[in-house]
Amino acid sequence: MAEFRLPDLKTAGFILATTLVAYNVLRVLYNFLFHPLAKYPGPLLWRISRLPYAISLATGNLVHDTWAIHNKYGKVVRLAPDELSFIDREALHDIYGARGKGHSEFTKNPAWVRPAPNGVFSILDSFEDDHTRQRKILNHAFSPGALKAQEPFLQKYTGLLIAEARKRGSIDLKDWYNFTTFDITGDLTFGQSFECLEKGRYHRWVSFLFAHLKASCLLASITFYPFFDKILWYCIPKSAFNERIYHFGRSVEWVHKRLSQKTDRNDFMSYVSQNNEKGEFTMKEIEATAGTLVIAGSETTSTVLLSTTRNLMIHKEKMEKLKKEIRGAFKDESEITLKAVENLPYLAAVFQENFRYTPPVPCSIPRTVPDGGDTIAGDMYPGGTFVGFPQIAAYRSHHHFAHPNEFIPERWLPSDHPLYKPTNTDPEFSKDTFKDDNFKIVTPFSVGPRMCIAQILAYAEMKLILGRMLWNFDFKIPQGKEQEYVKPWVEQKTYGLWVKEPYVMEMVDVVRE
Ligand code: HEM
Repeated sequence: MAEFRLPDLKTAGFILATTLVAYNVLRVLYNFLFHPLAKYPGPLLWRISRLPYAISLATGNLVHDTWAIHNKYGKVVRLAPDELSFIDREALHDIYGARGKGHSEFTKNPAWVRPAPNGVFSILDSFEDDHTRQRKILNHAFSPGALKAQEPFLQKYTGLLIAEARKRGSIDLKDWYNFTTFDITGDLTFGQSFECLEKGRYHRWVSFLFAHLKASCLLASITFYPFFDKILWYCIPKSAFNERIYHFGRSVEWVHKRLSQKTDRNDFMSYVSQNNEKGEFTMKEIEATAGTLVIAGSETTSTVLLSTTRNLMIHKEKMEKLKKEIRGAFKDESEITLKAVENLPYLAAVFQENFRYTPPVPCSIPRTVPDGGDTIAGDMYPGGTFVGFPQIAAYRSHHHFAHPNEFIPERWLPSDHPLYKPTNTDPEFSKDTFKDDNFKIVTPFSVGPRMCIAQILAYAEMKLILGRMLWNFDFKIPQGKEQEYVKPWVEQKTYGLWVKEPYVMEMVDVVRE
């Protein structure tokens, strides 16, 4: 009988390499020819391998690439062998909406979901029943009644922003809008502000988040390759882990401190504790959710404030129209309340157009088709397929909007409204130009059971801050920066959210008779 011998190292290496090459060739062929998603269009390399997607994500280009792919290949495109992207409204509702009997939830893509350091998921990432239970309690903190009671917090920090802007004369709005929204949400969540406005700099807790955003995209791009994922975890410097522990530790400490206080503050935690007598929202979940509230509630809102300011500085005639509306509506700054800013139609139109033109969450919020498969917009897709709705690609599509690449707030007004008039820089438009616009597709807060919990707070906050800023100041581009400052917002990179560039503005006090 022939004796079995192990191959020598060289032969073993050769066999391994050949097997790997053969496996990958077969996989590529399968993805191209036989995969259930093989019929969907997209660039060849993206259809046969996950690599172009991972590189695009890791280099901050995924939003732009997805947008370009939709422009070239249509409304449903293949971004990776097992991932599709959709820009139709029906698909949006099927992916994110509550579809009722016979349908399971399209859960979050696991590449993006990680538990908090205490081992539980925050409301943003928790699963079906857990999510419903948490949301039932947290909803109380975001009711119209709660918002009314929270107005003093919003007014206080907006006032601080204005005072500092006046004192300093010129400020980087990228930072100062961040300071304002983080101080507001910090105070509403933890019962103490980060004091960014008072100190004119980021708190360490806040700085961590910006570094973390990029790192989480890099980690997600590697998650598709489990082997490298493991290696990468070993390469992450210990200091990064320590920073995460510090960050979470402070959140826990502040949550406990706030909840131990007997106070009549109408902040988020007061609504949580008043409505959580049976402890359905567990302490660990509250700890995990507190940080999420600050992240979700601050970065998005300040991004909208900055993008709106930038879009208005480029579209000067729109800025003038808005200033006229705000300054004509109030005799004294004290009249600018949350209720009053609701009655400014041009301000509302500016924010809606801004959400369409430069959405703060520009990327897809990834979801997975449930086991057994399900339909999206009438077609059946296999379980496990990753799917999403990239906001900017949808909102800038000529399938949905007339003049999709123009910033035209007027489209959001009724055509018989006195402000519905083109300005000199607009393309010509008539009363019918925007009648077929797909307004309902603009859903910056998403749709369905996991849509933003704080939509009314976010609108109120943004309108108040921009309203009071423009009542007080004209923004002036620093001398010599004119060319630099007309750079379109969308030229910035994205790591999940936009990577915002500095935007220093001179604050010129409005002179009133
Ligand atoms: C312009 C401002 C905002 C935008 C565009 C925005 C957008 C969104 C979107 C798209 C989601 C869904 C995420 C997903 O499906 O994974 C979401 C969820 C969430 N947002 Fe907002 N958001 C804004 C402001 C806020 C504010 C001010 C807060 C709180 C202070 C907040 C708290 C949350 C929370 C807690 C969730 C998770 C809800 C859940 O899973 O049930 N957001 N937001």
